[in-house]
Amino acid sequence: MKSFLNSNPKGTYDIVEQESEIFLKIRNIFFQYARKFNFSYIETPIFEYAEIFEKTSQDSDVVTKELYKFLDKSNRQLALRPEGTAPIMRAIWQHKLHQVEKKFFYFGPMFRYEKPQKGRFRQFYQAGFEITNYKSQSFSLQILEVILLVIKILENLKIQNYQLKINYLSNSQTRQEYSRALTQYFEKYIDKLEPISKSRLKNNPLRILDDKIESSKDFVKSAPKISDFWSVDDKENFNSIISIFEKFKINYVIDYSLVRGLDYYDEFVFEFIDNDKILGSKLTFAGGGCYNNLPRKFGMANFKSIGVAFGIERLIEIFKSNSPTKLTNLDFYLIGFSQDEILKNFELAILLREQNFQVDLNKSPLSIKDGFQKAKKSGAKFAFFFEKDEQPGQISIKNLQTSINKVISLLNIDFEFLRTIIDGETHV
Ligand code: HAM
Repeated sequence: MKSFLNSNPKGTYDIVEQESEIFLKIRNIFFQYARKFNFSYIETPIFEYAEIFEKTSQDSDVVTKELYKFLDKSNRQLALRPEGTAPIMRAIWQHKLHQVEKKFFYFGPMFRYEKPQKGRFRQFYQAGFEITNYKSQSFSLQILEVILLVIKILENLKIQNYQLKINYLSNSQTRQEYSRALTQYFEKYIDKLEPISKSRLKNNPLRILDDKIESSKDFVKSAPKISDFWSVDDKENFNSIISIFEKFKINYVIDYSLVRGLDYYDEFVFEFIDNDKILGSKLTFAGGGCYNNLPRKFGMANFKSIGVAFGIERLIEIFKSNSPTKLTNLDFYLIGFSQDEILKNFELAILLREQNFQVDLNKSPLSIKDGFQKAKKSGAKFAFFFEKDEQPGQISIKNLQTSINKVISLLNIDFEFLRTIIDGETHV
């Protein structure tokens, strides 16, 4: 019988060594940008009552096929969260945070029982941002805020080759009209539809448009467009988005087949797509839109909201392909060739760590060769060590990239100097 004691469950992964450095770097950037844009951090449980998801996205694959649903020991119907927006709606209702405009940020694992492949996991991380209960007059500026946030995060990660796809899904009444027209249209081509599309024909014909296989077929490309059903208000709304994008020089592509996988969207929807096909195909690494009808599903009066979520694994892959250099955080490795030197190093490590430097040291004596090898392997930028004929009260510091040495005083450590060499402002 196969033992599972040395393998993680299918579709999951461990974050170790270099990967964890990248993961933490990216997570820090999200927290930093959440602060810059004044989003407040929200943490909700990773499991909720299943109803939270079933009520808000009842026709989506995420709920019908991919939900990790289970009964607890008291027969409560629970589900591991597949996404963060619905739990946030539940939380703001529960804590009465729904009366005024709020900005929320979350970062954590989500769960979907999907077929694992590159960039697709059963447990994956999302960073999400939600602006709830905004005033309708601020519609295009709220969109601008969310899109700018995504663009600025990508800029920080030096990710450039992406595309922003947008669409406008109007309201549920218009979508119903449009759905009827689509169903009528697709019924003419029923023999050419995939089995999954035939089942979507009644409940969710819009999903046929953005299905990977269907979207390449000519009759799907020539299907009626949602823009043919837009009201005067819809056109005005859409134009207000376009003109704000033009004003702020935001590049976008209009894609009338973009409908998103979850059911709760209306008005504006968008996706950020990796043009470099790092993950084999042009995968979406962030997506979102407006969801003005979710509050009612929880028993609140409807209000306007918009949000976005990033897929962190996908972002990490794109980031790695752009920045192949090793990320090192360690500033100093303190090499001790004898027990006595190791004790001195401990004293120095205490002082350096108090000054917020990142420091590590060996705890059993090493030969000169092994000492420097260990320092290099640690990824540290500099090594401290005692030369054989080092003057008392002094220590040598070696730049591990250039191998240049310098002697510094231990009696009066110049921390400012150490900071400048770590920042690369002064060279050793
Ligand atoms: P979503 O498009 O379902 O939207 O997921 C957002 C992102 O999560 C995707 O663009 C993708 O990068 C990543 N993702 C989704 N499924 C997987 C998976 N199985 N493995 C790896 N990454 C995955 C939402 O979840 C909405 N809640 C976003 C939102 C926030 N809309 C409004 N506010």
